[in-house]
Amino acid sequence: MNELELFRKAVVEGLCSVPKKLPSRYFYDSQGDALFARIMQTPAYYLSRAERANMPTVAQGLLEWLEGASLDLIDLGSGDGSKTEILIEPLLERGARMRYFPVDISPGVIEEQKKRLQDRWPELEIQAIAADYIRDPWTLPEALEKRLFLFLGSNLGNFDREGEQLLFSVLRRMCRPGDALLIGLDLAKDPARILSAYNDPEGITAQFNFNILKRINRELGGDFELDAFVHYPIYDPLKQEARSHLVCTRPAEFGLSDGTRFRFDAWEAIHTETSRKYTLEALERKAEEGGFHSRRAFLYEEGNTPIFADLLWVRNEK
Ligand code: AVI
Repeated sequence: MNELELFRKAVVEGLCSVPKKLPSRYFYDSQGDALFARIMQTPAYYLSRAERANMPTVAQGLLEWLEGASLDLIDLGSGDGSKTEILIEPLLERGARMRYFPVDISPGVIEEQKKRLQDRWPELEIQAIAADYIRDPWTLPEALEKRLFLFLGSNLGNFDREGEQLLFSVLRRMCRPGDALLIGLDLAKDPARILSAYNDPEGITAQFNFNILKRINRELGGDFELDAFVHYPIYDPLKQEARSHLVCTRPAEFGLSDGTRFRFDAWEAIHTETSRKYTLEALERKAEEGGFHSRRAFLYEEGNTPIFADLLWVRNEK
């Protein structure tokens, strides 16, 4: 099945289920990427700022872990790669021998990133890999002394159980004992603060959420009327997850150009995204479940409270 057929299948399955749902990975076309870049600039979305501010400390910790070994840095879902640049700079300055592999589903995004990094560091060996890193078969060349996988931005928080298991099975396959994962995750905190990160007053997150319906209209010939829906995020402090919805405000029927129709009751919701938050204890368990142990925790704190964690997880001996 090609990408468009997979999208159609996901939309039909999701909008025929009870409750209705759409997978958040379909937020990200070029318009969704641009909206997400704007979200990261909003005052309410603290995650990116916190992680960026953490990067110089993380870089120092990575140098200690490396102990002079040569490194393959594999950046999963590298996005615009700007946080990675803050990591790479001190490594190269200390003369680390390294190669860089940005892996992203969007070929345009990684080629652009590759060009920017190559202009900045012509001596750095960069191989861009355009792949869905959990679903496509993809490989790496024979490893240097250490492999480090980057999985930043609290992206794991958007994965469901199945996606998480797929990711860890890919990582276990590609990591030798002693190789590592640097994973960035948002921590549980004041529910009001988390909720406002998914409901910024400028309304950019709302536009991001609506982009999934716009994509259905653009790519699948949908006739969804956007003004029939409202953006409705919640934060559930028991499950420690933010969930975004599009709620249909009136009875309605919308469909696709292939004739598939979907009925909505008044106030029926579509679940579009889950963003999980974590406690440090839960993360220790997650590392163990995935076949890793936590070697270092780089915590970004505000007023002595950790708000975001970048964790260095090292692959266990088998
Ligand atoms: C990419 N991901 C970690 C973001 C998050 O926080 O869940 C996506 C996002 N959705 C709304 N705002 C940001």
